Amino acid sequence: MTLLTVDNLTKSYVGHGRHVTALDGVSFTLAEGQTLGLAGASGSGKSTLARVLLRLLATDAGQVHFAGEDWLTLSGSRLRQRRRGMQMVFQDVLGAFNPRATVGSVLDDPLRIHDIVARAERPREIAGLLDRVGLPTSYAGRSIRELSGGQRQRVAIARAIATRPSLIVLDEAVSALDASVRRRILELLVELQQERGIAYLFVSHDLAVLQVVSHRIAIMHEGRIVETGATNAVIGNPQSSAAKALIAAVPRLVTGTPTEPDPSHP
Ligand SMILES: Nc1ncnc2c1ncn2[C@@H]1O[C@H](COP(=O)(O)OP(=O)(O)OP(=O)(O)O)[C@@H](O)[C@H]1O
Ligand SMILES: [Mg+2]
Repeated sequence: MTLLTVDNLTKSYVGHGRHVTALDGVSFTLAEGQTLGLAGASGSGKSTLARVLLRLLATDAGQVHFAGEDWLTLSGSRLRQRRRGMQMVFQDVLGAFNPRATVGSVLDDPLRIHDIVARAERPREIAGLLDRVGLPTSYAGRSIRELSGGQRQRVAIARAIATRPSLIVLDEAVSALDASVRRRILELLVELQQERGIAYLFVSHDLAVLQVVSHRIAIMHEGRIVETGATNAVIGNPQSSAAKALIAAVPRLVTGTPTEPDPSHP
């Protein structure tokens, strides 16, 4: 089943005598429970697309259908209600929070705002979320600034899954982490997807990261999607010069003949 349909999105930034077309007719679909990896050079429009989908930024034109609804025209209480279905994890989503906020309060917010469980149940729900992302439950009392980068991203993931979303938009969510931490976070994300059937739109400039998590890959270049296909097909046999350039930039990427799909990650 198709979860997300993006149709001809267009977005320009205008100001200071400049006019930048960040999205120039972007269209794609994402199936339930699947991951679409979105790659592209710096400035190709990936974050703009993520922000438009999350309704953090208005588009100039185009349509989005999410979970059967005309997503960009939702407003008011209906939008507030439906937001629980689409969550986000950014590069440092918690850096935007009050650094003195506790982990517990960061996780309590979505549970309260979206009325996920009764008030009396929330501490237990928070402990369950922490446990699920591999953090000790005692971390509920810690402040955000006491966490490492990897631990913060675990809290960001716990916060994203708290509302039981059907889609999480991740924008360079593991880019700031060192290789071993990054690998464990990617494993956690894949496990959560298999457990809960969450779809991911996974934005990264790093195709090696996308190769691990994506069922399909889309390549962005100057505001357009110039190539899409199954992960192994795009990485093993890129067609566009934009895809070729991204592949050349990642020496550790395993390319060549498309291999058998990983059976644990169909
Ligand atoms: N708030 C803004 N005002 C003006 N121009 C912007 C703004 N945000 C982004 N842009 C421009 O829009 C284009 C797309 O930017 P965007 O941040 O979406 O790219 P990106 O693919 O996420 O890049 P990166 O990989 O560096 O994160 C760029 O040319 C950028 O300079
Ligand atoms: Mg970006």
